[in-house]
Amino acid sequence: MKILRWTALSVVALLLVSGAAFGVFYLQARLDTAGKVDFAQELVIPPPAPSTVDSSGVRTFDLDIRSGDTRFLDGQATKTWGVNGTFLGPTLRAKRGEKVAFSVRNGLAEATSLHWHGMHLPADMDGGPHQLVEPGATWRPQWTISQQAATLWYHPHLHGRTADHLYRGIAGMFLLDDDNSAGLGLPDDYGVDDLPLIVQDRKFDGDNQFDHSAPFMSTGGVLGDEILVNGTRGPRTEITTRQVRLRLLNASNSRLYNFGFADDRPFHLIATDGGLLPEPWQTSRLQLSPGERAEIVVEFQPGETTELRSYPTTFGYDALGARLNGADDRLDLVQFRAAGTLADAGRLPEKLGTAPDLHTQPVAETRSFALSGRTINGAKMDMARIDFAVRLDSTEVWEVTNTNGYMHNLHVHDVQFQVLDIDGQRPPPHLAGWKDTIQLGTDRRYRLAMRFSDYADPDTPYMLHCHLTLHEDEGMMSQFVVLGEGQSPGRITAPGHRHP
Ligand code: C2O
Ligand code: CU
Ligand code: CU
Repeated sequence: MKILRWTALSVVALLLVSGAAFGVFYLQARLDTAGKVDFAQELVIPPPAPSTVDSSGVRTFDLDIRSGDTRFLDGQATKTWGVNGTFLGPTLRAKRGEKVAFSVRNGLAEATSLHWHGMHLPADMDGGPHQLVEPGATWRPQWTISQQAATLWYHPHLHGRTADHLYRGIAGMFLLDDDNSAGLGLPDDYGVDDLPLIVQDRKFDGDNQFDHSAPFMSTGGVLGDEILVNGTRGPRTEITTRQVRLRLLNASNSRLYNFGFADDRPFHLIATDGGLLPEPWQTSRLQLSPGERAEIVVEFQPGETTELRSYPTTFGYDALGARLNGADDRLDLVQFRAAGTLADAGRLPEKLGTAPDLHTQPVAETRSFALSGRTINGAKMDMARIDFAVRLDSTEVWEVTNTNGYMHNLHVHDVQFQVLDIDGQRPPPHLAGWKDTIQLGTDRRYRLAMRFSDYADPDTPYMLHCHLTLHEDEGMMSQFVVLGEGQSPGRITAPGHRHP
């Protein structure tokens, strides 16, 4: 009897102590760096990648993936990976209609891959898990740029190790231009009034090395308490023009960002993943999940200083999930210091791009995708299984739901899609343009339309997956092929070791 009473008492005591401990943990799980970053480093602008154009008009880039040491903190340097450098890579740039070619040399001690996120291209050039580049090997993909101007990016994409390779530092921007975008008078002086901002979070261990561990009880994977923008910790940059275009890329493994300025100034969203919106949209907040991009134009007054910040995110997690996955955090990202006199800029045009029009097309196939846990439609990624096949020259509608309360997003390779509706409602302005990655709110139904108009290949699949890289690595990915007339899905013979 006495023992029982003591047991009951100690259980109560234990619950109280652990409850209090959890309470303290819960309160400390919220990070707030607003006003606390010293902005002592000049923002690094990734260098434009050099390229050569041969007599047949092919533009060739040489990319060298390697390991190295990068100094982020006082004291010891951090072991990092990069492309043509020690951390991140150069900015690739090409025009619609151009033929591009790459020599991608893997100087690492293990296999990796380089995927061109958002690019419309043949499946065997995609750089996904079936196009591994072995250590010491050189991969030579090439294709013709056949899509509109957009802010795309590149990163490794090997099955099970994407999170690790991305976190170590392999990523960069891939900017596409076309005549329409060049004729709009948008800020386009790279590094001056057109700035790439690759936003990543990192955690450092006691030896200044990247810590890959996920926080206690989190569901999304690694979360850093330090922000790197273009690989610069605590960056500031001088502004010399009234209007500045920022190309935002969430290249983090799992963190959501809700971009806004410290003084809440409005800005204009002009482009999303796949290119320019039909018209600019004014807002003071913009949420991007991992893999998503946005181009915004913001105005500055002479002599002023402000910061780009990430505010607590507005959806994606329930209250507990938000706290444990960093969604309640408030983080200073970059400081902008406007010069005493600023070059005047033109006015933002009222019309930018053309609105997606896939809703007018006949629908060849409707498919449903339920994302849950680490699965899509109950299945985990199998390198040797082609999950489904789409037909060349067809428009499909994919109905996508996130059914388990964790945060997920969906990224589709090969095509840009149009968001038809979300729970039957027209999409909000920031989802009204072309997208390749979309954040999925729990229990909402997203209807996405996409058209497959080139590059049939029954043997080489494209991927669709959650872009929280932990989830992707743990199997939240499916594969599809595009079939031409009379073709049927082939067999993947040597998964992971196909060199075109
Ligand atoms: Cu950004 Cu399938 O990747
Ligand atoms: Cu991709
Ligand atoms: Cu996910």
